[in-house]
Amino acid sequence: MESTRNLLIEILEKNKNNYISGEQMSKMLGISRTAVWKHMKELQKDGYEIEGISKKGYKITQFPSKVSVNTLQWGSKTKWLGKTLIHKHSTGSTQIIGHQLAVEGTPHGTVVVADVQTEGKGRFDRKWHSSNNKGIWMSIVLRPNLLPNQAPQITLLAATVIADVIKSKTGLSPNIKWPNDVLINNKKVSGILTEMQAEQDRIQYMVLGIGININQSVETLANDIKASATSLRIESTIEWNIRDLIQETLAHFEQAYDSFIDEGFSPIKSKWESYAYMIGQSVRIKTFKKETTAQLIGIKEDGALIIKNEDGSHESLYSAEIQW
Ligand code: BTN
Repeated sequence: MESTRNLLIEILEKNKNNYISGEQMSKMLGISRTAVWKHMKELQKDGYEIEGISKKGYKITQFPSKVSVNTLQWGSKTKWLGKTLIHKHSTGSTQIIGHQLAVEGTPHGTVVVADVQTEGKGRFDRKWHSSNNKGIWMSIVLRPNLLPNQAPQITLLAATVIADVIKSKTGLSPNIKWPNDVLINNKKVSGILTEMQAEQDRIQYMVLGIGININQSVETLANDIKASATSLRIESTIEWNIRDLIQETLAHFEQAYDSFIDEGFSPIKSKWESYAYMIGQSVRIKTFKKETTAQLIGIKEDGALIIKNEDGSHESLYSAEIQW
């Protein structure tokens, strides 16, 4: 049933510039014309706008922007990511649901998406503003067969995926501020929060939280982040389809994750470096122990940040914040 609907969406997408008859579709899908018609009605309920003209057939005129389990799973291009998918209209934090599900044994690749988060969490216990239908607020449960010290590589991978999706979909030019803040024109558009449960030599699970500001305007962006944050809409003056961007992000993430498992971190390291923010420049860096001025050099294979101190010594940092 679900795969028939996915195929149907694929056919409609391929034929979006012309009409395709019910008969053609029934042959392609191996189902009756009445069944095709019923599928069309179901799609329309979820926001797909399909024009049906007798003797000509069907043509899709609008893909839904509405986010629901159906609209995210139908037409999805992933093989394993988001096959278990939870959509909440409103929740405290998708991270909390991700942890609960992980403890209960939810499969690798489970995705939790919310329209609004009332207690969105950022790094360093900061609040993450997650206003209603204005962005992507989602958490992915992963069960990688990796050592705990490899977890930062997955976070860097996620940042490159987000930068890639933003670049390819909007034409904007994102950068990544180590470890994983995605910026446009020096302002933060996306952040990633990685939380994990691990033993000494094994990750039990990770909950990878992704927040992307999409359709906020300068007026609707929360006051305390107006100076440092932005959204795709602010940067492009275009209202973006959040459902489409979630599907793109999941498809890219799955592809990048699979090639990371097959080929290792090197290709991601190069990609990450191609987006790196302020590499070669002097910045203020805050760690648990100190605040210092240093030059950003690059990243190591394990994802650590390499800096050059003012005395010329090199140092690898695993947890730090580059100041604005
Ligand atoms: C940061 O840059 O500080 C990380 C922000 C991460 C925000 C996302 S939104 C989805 C998920 N749920 C949360 O509560 N936080 C993460």
